[in-house]
Amino acid sequence: METMRVVGCSASNGIDITLSKVLGVDLVKAELTRFPDGEIKVKVPEFKEKIAVIVQSTYFPQEKNLFELVLAAQALKGKHIIAIIPYIAYARQNRSFSPGEAVSINSVLDIIECAGIKELITVNPHKSEPLMRFNGKIGIVDAAGTLAKKIGGNFDNPTIIAPDKGGIGIAKKAASVMKCDYTYIEKHRNIYGSVSIKKTHGGNFRGNDIIIFDDVISTGGTVEQAARFAYDHGAKSVSVAAIHLVMVKGAYEKLQSSGIQKIFGTNTVPFDRADTIDIASDIASRINKIGTKGVSKEK
Ligand code: R5P
Repeated sequence: METMRVVGCSASNGIDITLSKVLGVDLVKAELTRFPDGEIKVKVPEFKEKIAVIVQSTYFPQEKNLFELVLAAQALKGKHIIAIIPYIAYARQNRSFSPGEAVSINSVLDIIECAGIKELITVNPHKSEPLMRFNGKIGIVDAAGTLAKKIGGNFDNPTIIAPDKGGIGIAKKAASVMKCDYTYIEKHRNIYGSVSIKKTHGGNFRGNDIIIFDDVISTGGTVEQAARFAYDHGAKSVSVAAIHLVMVKGAYEKLQSSGIQKIFGTNTVPFDRADTIDIASDIASRINKIGTKGVSKEK
């Protein structure tokens, strides 16, 4: 792959380094500085390769990290740009939940496209369909299988639960890798954002090691309530695995107070109090496979 160069931005969380190793291509670091008024400036050292693979996640501070990606793409004008955005921000605001609300993910995709990015690869966005707005090529990595492989050996008698119906896909995939049962519970979020659990759709909790499997932990409210529910229904232990450990302030304490024993995740977002896996290899294989527009989930 001598025609390709990996360009690491400041929010790549090490994925740029492992990705360049896995792909066997050189890495260059984009240089980020700030003007005295706070504006950011990005400079990418010149290189000869025609394809630039920019790695930049868009966790907090989301706007700065997104704009840094845009500036890196601008600095690389003339090259074929592939953006790796391991965690894509604003994906949960994929519709107007009340009249007048902006559909934020649409704007994120429009900005990425305007920046000259031709291919976009991301990991477990909240929903895949809204990303189809992007006119370039798109690759979606499903890290659930890789994450499940990593945690499999930690439990005697696991049952996986998705904390809402929307999460059943990754729970099913994880369960097939771990060769165990899975189910989902029903979550209700009130207008103030508080979460409560309504009922279970089967699955044996009593005496089992419950693993709550979700795409993202943000405030921790969902996992906290799901864990309490599982213990109330006789779980022996409750742990959590999530692709994106966004973990806003106070989330870790919520998980602890609900009796969560182990936290597993990936390195799409930095969080040092969990057992995390590097998903650079999954991304590398997606770079090699990308080539058609449409949801192309990792099998
Ligand atoms: C929701 O549909 C997602 O899959 C997550 O369950 C949710 O976003 C987690 O948010 P929080 O940690 O704030 O409850």
